[in-house]
Amino acid sequence: MRGRLPGRLHLVEDVGFPLVPQLEISDLITAVDPHSGHRLPVRRSEVIRQLRENGDERAVRIVAALPAGPDDVLDPHAVDRLLVRVHTELQRLSEELRLGERMVDVLGPLFTAIRSATGDSGPYRLVDVGCGLGYLVRWLAVTNALGADVELVGVDLNAALVGEAGRLARAEGLDCAFVHGNAFALPEAATVYVSTGVLHHFRGSALTEFFQAQAASPAYAYCHFDIARTPVAPLGAWIFHRARMRHPLGRHDGVASALRAHSDETLLRAAAEPGIRALLYEPRATANPFCTTLRPVIGVRPHLEAAFRQALKRDARRLVGPEHLAGAAR
Ligand SMILES: C[S@@+](CC[C@H](N)C(=O)[O-])C[C@H]1O[C@@H](n2cnc3c(N)ncnc32)[C@H](O)[C@@H]1O
Repeated sequence: MRGRLPGRLHLVEDVGFPLVPQLEISDLITAVDPHSGHRLPVRRSEVIRQLRENGDERAVRIVAALPAGPDDVLDPHAVDRLLVRVHTELQRLSEELRLGERMVDVLGPLFTAIRSATGDSGPYRLVDVGCGLGYLVRWLAVTNALGADVELVGVDLNAALVGEAGRLARAEGLDCAFVHGNAFALPEAATVYVSTGVLHHFRGSALTEFFQAQAASPAYAYCHFDIARTPVAPLGAWIFHRARMRHPLGRHDGVASALRAHSDETLLRAAAEPGIRALLYEPRATANPFCTTLRPVIGVRPHLEAAFRQALKRDARRLVGPEHLAGAAR
């Protein structure tokens, strides 16, 4: 790639601003059997091959520096330590973007609607899909922002991340649970599914299946925050990750996430499932792209929509369905 770029663009790539379609390194260096949940070995040369095919020599250099055994399998302990370190740095993003407060702006009215319009007296269960180090669940537990009748559960397929989330919660004396596994295969049903920074990891049919799993579950609603696809998002992500992240993997994947972010239309199309009403809160068409960072896609059972809008009060005007985006620029 570098050889094909005009000279001025070399400079851009040299400081770490990628110009090629992105894969995220963190997605490639761990693998889990989706049925058993057991970790699978990952060959370093295979990860390098995929990144090189994608034209991402910077990512190739990052992966080439990771330790592997004589059998070429990446050292799982070193990978775990690295992912915990990068996610620890990543928590700063959640703090600075006030992700807890922004989630509660939506979840508060959502639980008000569930309490008033379903006849279900609780307790309710919030499940954070792909909770990583559990920043959101721990923040909700510290603040008790949703009320004592909402149980807080973080779930992740990555044992190292969710294990660290549990360790932090115990050290902080918090009333919440962390579970290693598939968030859609829990023995107890969720009332509401949430996530932060997860949607862009699901591509194509996997994104549709993500929403199908929730529509088919007994949950009343979901609320998934992810990076908004705007022209300025990759540059904003690059500035933030240069300033606040230390490890090159975190810097690389942070910008890759912004480049891979789904458009509003892609999310609403993928979320269109019978039995659930898919909505966007503060979508790109209604928001200033310089201020938009993360925005949620929300799904509610149709009989809850009116109560949810009522509980949102004036903020209900920020909520739009697919019909409002018809004809919007992609
Ligand atoms: C980028 S991390 C998100 C981290 C975290 N939400 C945060 O904001 O820091 C995405 C995580 O989603 C997890 N994941 C993906 N699908 C999942 C599923 N069905 N159940 C549980 N975890 C899942 C992956 O293991 C990965 O750790």
